[in-house]
Amino acid sequence: MKILSSYSIKGGVGKTALAVNLAFALREAGHRTLLLDLDPQGAATFYFRVGSAEKYRIRDTDSLAEGLRNNIRESDFPGLDIIPSNLGYRRFDIVLDGMKKRRSQLRRVLEELKPDYDVILMDCPPNITLLSENVFRASDGILVPIIPTVLSRRALEQLAGFFKDENLPRETLRPFFSMVQKRNKMHREIMDDLPAAYPGFLKSVIPFSADVEKMGLRRMPLLAYSKACEAARAYRALCDEILSLAGP
Ligand SMILES: Nc1ncnc2c1ncn2[C@@H]1O[C@H](COP(=O)(O)OP(=O)(O)OP(=O)(O)O)[C@@H](O)[C@H]1O
Ligand SMILES: [Mg+2]
Repeated sequence: MKILSSYSIKGGVGKTALAVNLAFALREAGHRTLLLDLDPQGAATFYFRVGSAEKYRIRDTDSLAEGLRNNIRESDFPGLDIIPSNLGYRRFDIVLDGMKKRRSQLRRVLEELKPDYDVILMDCPPNITLLSENVFRASDGILVPIIPTVLSRRALEQLAGFFKDENLPRETLRPFFSMVQKRNKMHREIMDDLPAAYPGFLKSVIPFSADVEKMGLRRMPLLAYSKACEAARAYRALCDEILSLAGP
């Protein structure tokens, strides 16, 4: 699993919280890691206290590749690099739309960065766009946080349906439960039956925790300031589970 993405059609489900903590955990486990913040909101960039990317115009794949390469920044944690968010990403879809092989351009660009890292992890914006399709085709594993609610279940069904219609490899979809409240009956019921429908469902569960929300104040991954809390242990277990999956 060399290229991973943190992705969901739905917003506010824990994609960025996963991306920053998984990036940190991977690096802690000795993997040279690159976190690519693909969301113009730039939340992952903010959490790592990295300045925004230099402005560059994305006209084609070459300018995208060059822009990404020129914007690789070291984080405060050796072994973990970040490519900060760029408002120019809002043009991604327009630019991609005018290109040949418009669904696989990101994969081509990431090929160039691959030799320098053990893992490249993308934090994605919500929604399903041409950029998302590029993410699907570039990723060995697509990590999908699922809050155990009816709408999250529906969003996962939509995503799996899209993969089927587009002939994308469904085994790359790796949903997992996020922001779980064990006392919530609906959470428990959905957790009991949803994984059976998705062979790639990960076993690790991220609990709802105020410790995670404090990342906004601390501006660093939870794993960097609260190593032993329940949520930190859960992120580390998720990282171990991902590392244990077969793959390149
Ligand atoms: N396990 C958790 N427990 C409690 N709060 C959480 C947890 N995970 C994330 N949050 C909080 O929920 C909010 C949304 O999380 P996050 O930004 O990771 O979601 P997202 O899917 O990346 O959102 P967006 O779609 O806007 O990019 C944030 O305020 C975050 O601090
Ligand atoms: Mg986010």
